[in-house]
Amino acid sequence: MPAPWFEDEIAQSLAPVLPGIGVEVVAEIGSTNTELMRRAREGHNAAVLLVAERQTAGRGRLGRPWQSAQDAREPSSLTFSLGLSLAPRDWSGLSLAVGVSVAESLDPSGAAGLGLKWPNDLWVGERKLGGILIETALFQPDVAERYLVIGIGINIGAREAANLSTPPAWLKEWRPGATPGEVLREIAAPLVRDVLLFSGSGFVPFAARFAARDVLRGREVRLSDGTEGHCEGVGWGGELLVRTAAGVQMISSAEVSVRPRPAPI
Ligand code: BTN
Repeated sequence: MPAPWFEDEIAQSLAPVLPGIGVEVVAEIGSTNTELMRRAREGHNAAVLLVAERQTAGRGRLGRPWQSAQDAREPSSLTFSLGLSLAPRDWSGLSLAVGVSVAESLDPSGAAGLGLKWPNDLWVGERKLGGILIETALFQPDVAERYLVIGIGINIGAREAANLSTPPAWLKEWRPGATPGEVLREIAAPLVRDVLLFSGSGFVPFAARFAARDVLRGREVRLSDGTEGHCEGVGWGGELLVRTAAGVQMISSAEVSVRPRPAPI
């Protein structure tokens, strides 16, 4: 029997946090983010959690594809998107706040070593457990409110490293019985709560929580634009702080990726 998705339980846990939010589970879709962005462009702005057992055209940051772990017998990835209308004063740091929320739900004590790699990767050691893709659709120019789509992909079961730029980690390594539905049930309500907290208060309430899991802080890093330096953590707006020969640079561009530099042998 396929593992349950707990739609009703999840809907009940979300109702007091964000009344009216829907929960939809589909067997297969191109990409949950693409679908919610398509709906938003057609004028649908209802809050929804859209979950897919399989994505055929999953997308990652910087135009990269997102491939789920494959296992014909059971879904071995959690892939979903949360869509809702939001009008925070400042959007900067949102993807970091989302990462904090998910990491704290999956590894509350930090015992599993679940860390956050700026701006939005979930890492265990030097391996990637999951990623976050945030997109927004503007309803009307000059209106602060946007439709926000937060897409999250988490490896639940084992997956091969072939074709991945960062070797994968998976949740079953430390929780052998984990299922995607059970994981979604754990992270959904805290995620919506944290997104609403971000909307009201920005990144500030998440700064120390991010710092506690920041895998780049204190390391030498190399950015995709060629900049190299010493990572000094993130600023109050979620910018990556990199000390270079020219001083501390505040990196906020969504187009930049960063990697820790291997330690010299
Ligand atoms: C990244 O690591 O670059 C971000 C990966 C985000 C993947 C998730 S899976 C659910 C949602 N739908 C998508 O097409 N992408 C996101």
